[in-house]
Amino acid sequence: KDEHLTPFYDAHELAAKYYHYVLVETDEGKPAREYLRKRGFTQTAIDQFQVGFAPDSWDFLAPFLEKRGFLMEDLETCGLVGRRESDGKAYDRFRNRVMFPIHHTQGKVIAFGGRGLGDAQPKYLNSHESVIFNKSVTLYGFHQARPKMKKRNEAVLFEGYVDVIAAWRAGIDNGIASLGTAMTEQQAKMIRRNVDRVLLCYDGDGAGQQATYKNARILMDAGLTVTVANLPSGYDPDDYIQEFGKERFATDVVGNRKSWMQFLFDYFVIDKDLSLETDRVAYIESILTETAIIENPVERDMYVQKLAERFNLSQQVLREELSRIRSSQR
Ligand code: CTP
Ligand code: MN
Ligand code: MN
Ligand code: MN
Ligand code: MN
Repeated sequence: KDEHLTPFYDAHELAAKYYHYVLVETDEGKPAREYLRKRGFTQTAIDQFQVGFAPDSWDFLAPFLEKRGFLMEDLETCGLVGRRESDGKAYDRFRNRVMFPIHHTQGKVIAFGGRGLGDAQPKYLNSHESVIFNKSVTLYGFHQARPKMKKRNEAVLFEGYVDVIAAWRAGIDNGIASLGTAMTEQQAKMIRRNVDRVLLCYDGDGAGQQATYKNARILMDAGLTVTVANLPSGYDPDDYIQEFGKERFATDVVGNRKSWMQFLFDYFVIDKDLSLETDRVAYIESILTETAIIENPVERDMYVQKLAERFNLSQQVLREELSRIRSSQR
């Protein structure tokens, strides 16, 4: 019944093959091969993720697809080509970019993320949403990772394409990425249908930590158990693997993961000075507010004990405050 979508899928499949061929086999692909080599991409990884290269040309893909019978207006609809204002001529939207094909759940290519070489702006150019690309139900790498996710009963969630691929090289084959955007409920449900647990492995910067906090809530609301990778600030997963290697990534970052509460204990400290009483009170309130959401009373009690020990407070007082918060949340 979705026959009218066939040309869009076919165009993407062909484009992905063409870009991959250019990257791997041609002279035009040389700068991109060099770029990826410096970033640690192996040939196996390039093949596995069907990475490609869109050469630095305005009319590389459009005429290629036009010759094969694709309509320019279709290619425009799904974001592969743009149209010149002056004369309506079609041109390639992706130029001089490393191309990461994005697949839907069944494994068809539905979009691309294009990484400029060096510091080209914007750093990433992505396909816009289209009849075949609904961002809110798409997760990068999901199709390939799904059997591994199921086997391990866990998904590892990254921010970016490169992180998924770097982690894959380090033996983490159940990695997916939320494409930089905020997690949707639908994405959380897609994950939940396959696994019980998610390891959040976002960038070790402020934005990454905030996204961890926000997206974890959505994942937990979908019924998933969340842990958080222990990435030092200033690194994203790919940076870390490049600098310290895959073994240390496995042991110190993934292996040394934090429980959700451990993450919160660190997260709420970020903007506070715990030597100040007012900040200390605010900190305790933040932790109690999170504790209050937890369904399991045993788990709640563990956090109360932790807080009591750490700040030398009576558990009784903390429990009273917790009940107050819980009744106000209802
Ligand atoms: N992103 C995007 N557009 C941008 C910047 C980011 O779509 N201008 C998305 C991409 O999916 C990217 C993810 O957000 O992979 C994470 O962004 P960022 O951490 O900035 O990029 P990295 O993945 O670290 O990219 P790189 O290592 O190539 O610099
Ligand atoms: Mn190949
Ligand atoms: Mn980031
Ligand atoms: Mn990053
Ligand atoms: Mn990066």
